[in-house]
Amino acid sequence: MSTTPELMAQKACEAMKNAYAPYSKFHVGACVQAEDGTLFTGCNVENAAYGPTNCAERTAIFSMIAAGKKRIKAIAVVGGSGDVLCTPCGVCRQVIREFAAPDAPIYLCNPRTQKVVKTTNIAELLPDSFGPESLI
Ligand code: THU
Repeated sequence: MSTTPELMAQKACEAMKNAYAPYSKFHVGACVQAEDGTLFTGCNVENAAYGPTNCAERTAIFSMIAAGKKRIKAIAVVGGSGDVLCTPCGVCRQVIREFAAPDAPIYLCNPRTQKVVKTTNIAELLPDSFGPESLI
């Protein structure tokens, strides 16, 4: 089965079920497609000390990196009840910026319908950003 935004939305919703969020009770799931098409999923993982909490997007992206892939082709994010879209937090935007092209699609999904509601990208979410090229 070839990857579609809908499949990525479904996988993100599946990963959301594994969220460890006893403190915020806000469950988030993400699905990242690597350059070769491989999909990696992640959920948020909270901590009693709050600070070590890892967002769903970073869980998925770090799994991708740990598997030896270097580029994000697309990412789907789903979180909360669906009444308000869950968009990547500031820290996750910076991490996405590291590994995704400016126009790589970021699918924001509804957990109830498991559908993509809005497509954006990191150029829109993090304009005038600092990235690897900034250090050259
Ligand atoms: N969270 C994510 O996993 N991704 C985001 O982009 C927004 C926030 C998580 C972190 C925390 O576990 C919970 O949602 C509430 O902030």
